[in-house]
Amino acid sequence: MSDASELLSATGTTPEQVYTPQEQPGWPKGNVGTLDEYRKRYKQSIEDGDVFWDKAAKSTLKWTIPFTTIRSGGFEDGDVSWFHDGYLNACENAVDRWALKNPKKTAIIWESDEPGQHLHISFSELFKQVCLVANVLLSFGVRKGDVVAVYMPMVPEALYAMLACARIGAVHSVVFAGFSADALRDRINDAQCKVVITADQGVRGGKRSQLKKITDEAVAECPCVERVLVFQRTGDVLATPFHAGRDRWWHEEIAKQRPYCPPTLVNSEDPLFILYTSGSTGKPKGVLHTTAGYLLGAALTVRDVFDVHSDDVFGCMADVGWITGHTYICYGPLLNGATTVVFESMPTYPNPGRYWLTVDTHKITQFYTAPTAIRALRRLGDAHVAPYKLDSLRVIGSVGEPINPEAWIWYHEQIGKSKIPIVDTYWQTETGSIIVSPLPRVTPTKPGSATLPFWGIEPAILDPTTGQELKGNDVTGVLCLKRPWPSMARTVFGDHSRYLDVYMKPYKGYYFTGDGVTRDKDGYYWVRGRVDDVINVSGHRLSTAEIESALILHPRVAEAAVIGVNDDVTGQAIFCYVVLKETPAEAVSTLSTSVARMPHPDGPDGLKRMTQELVQQVRQHIGPFATPKRIVISPDLPKTRSGKIMRRILRKVANGEIKSTQEEEISKLGDLSTLADPGIVAVLIAKVHS
Ligand code: WTA
Repeated sequence: MSDASELLSATGTTPEQVYTPQEQPGWPKGNVGTLDEYRKRYKQSIEDGDVFWDKAAKSTLKWTIPFTTIRSGGFEDGDVSWFHDGYLNACENAVDRWALKNPKKTAIIWESDEPGQHLHISFSELFKQVCLVANVLLSFGVRKGDVVAVYMPMVPEALYAMLACARIGAVHSVVFAGFSADALRDRINDAQCKVVITADQGVRGGKRSQLKKITDEAVAECPCVERVLVFQRTGDVLATPFHAGRDRWWHEEIAKQRPYCPPTLVNSEDPLFILYTSGSTGKPKGVLHTTAGYLLGAALTVRDVFDVHSDDVFGCMADVGWITGHTYICYGPLLNGATTVVFESMPTYPNPGRYWLTVDTHKITQFYTAPTAIRALRRLGDAHVAPYKLDSLRVIGSVGEPINPEAWIWYHEQIGKSKIPIVDTYWQTETGSIIVSPLPRVTPTKPGSATLPFWGIEPAILDPTTGQELKGNDVTGVLCLKRPWPSMARTVFGDHSRYLDVYMKPYKGYYFTGDGVTRDKDGYYWVRGRVDDVINVSGHRLSTAEIESALILHPRVAEAAVIGVNDDVTGQAIFCYVVLKETPAEAVSTLSTSVARMPHPDGPDGLKRMTQELVQQVRQHIGPFATPKRIVISPDLPKTRSGKIMRRILRKVANGEIKSTQEEEISKLGDLSTLADPGIVAVLIAKVHS
């Protein structure tokens, strides 16, 4: 965090263009009517929070035993609880309510990888399938509070698995199917999962991934695992290893079960799920969400940020392996009784019109994706959008990283036909649901700004150095929140002190997001990105420390420093500086540009091979989505006399802010007097830019 001030000073200026909401003929009345209504309700949610949340929780969720206590605890001890004497069941709220009322209504539309192959699953079918899986889990001995790992492709069964856990009070830990065996193993062991749910293979972009083989590799080092339940996505049994003692086929197990399973009584504060996310240190954190507060955040944001009405078709293009998939594919839409789309494919398969074909085919009303996809599609050209009507859309959303104004405007004009409101939604795994966003047809928008806070969210901007709150408008600092909100994470699984250290202790009395932010002259929030050692690649959160740990595992690596570099499509990309163990000692002590240009002892081929090995090392330890963009093998890293790596130098050199050793270029690096060996700067510049 020491670099926070420097990172924030690099932020751009804010364009002034404002887009005012327009009413469209034939659209249903908005769930929030006007900006005045937003302001009034927001004010109440802050000033009279108990009344606001009491009403919201009672009117939004079905309670088996209603609560009488609204909120207790605070940030300092991390003992926040909401509605804590109430009982309810998440699955009953998401599924049973609608299965009873409107059984034939479509709950899930599955758009498979191949265009034209899709399925409609009704609420009654969803109910039945979830009950069957819940009974399978019970038959495996899973009980309330047990953690079940879910490593699934984008098929409806991934949602069945999550909801089945919720039904019996088990805690799901979904691991994104792009993670490697090592990453899966660590997550399974961390939560001591007895059961892993997976599929034979995944299918995406016409390619198959070997999920079961990866699971086997992971589970081989997980003594806690007793059962692996395998869904047949492709049915390629010859390619799928099966261990009869431990493994069970999904279809065989559900065939044995009764299609009804009573929902377990769950306390508001019982855990609903764990989701691992990257932090500033190497080990991923198991962010834990509890039941009622999380559900309330998911339900309310879908209703108000996306203006969902009961006949809507909600199309969130994320993966269930990330928080966006949890909240906006699974829980949020279903809690509103809306139809949710499970999209197995990718935006460019079989061509860059795939999203728009999907929108038209299923008459999607809310479309939600990430800036990286928008930027990539914009690059590929408007011709891929032109054939589609896109006239079912009422709200289009963006999430995962700041959206640059050019991408925003393209999204607005090409996809929104200059009339559909964009919601640029800011939130995090830890916040559970959206915390800063415009409301469609209500909030005037500015491209690149997430605009205003959601109900109950009280942002504070702090000076990163002094920790003082910067009041008023036109201020830049780190983004904190001032009061607990229902869907906030309650702990880090198995490590509450880490939870306190990361979120509660950096600024006493506040929750710290890790992001830098500007509040402009109109009170609008512009999230700038992370001020810690977390980088955001295509909306995927990665810890530089975690990538460094992966690199260090290579027997020839002595040291590594990873930073984020700007990338036109992925937002940021992974740039690694690596120091090898066998760098000749004299090269380190007499650093100069001539050393940098010296042929590497491995020769050019050896160097290429080494670089490939290092890329592979990261992919194997984390997953293919964490593939480094560039690896620079350097004789040393810039360090202070006390041995601290000066990342600011690495960042500026990698980002091309400094390309030569001319004095005025070097001066852009700021004060270098604390560097143990100032010669390293020239070496790095030569390595990166020659
Ligand atoms: C970033 C994803 C700017 C931010 C839901 C945050 C954003 C991190 C936005 C959380 C946005 C997310 N504008 N930045 N609209 N949305 N971020 O946990 O840096 O995967 O801290 O949750 O993504 O990433 P996570």
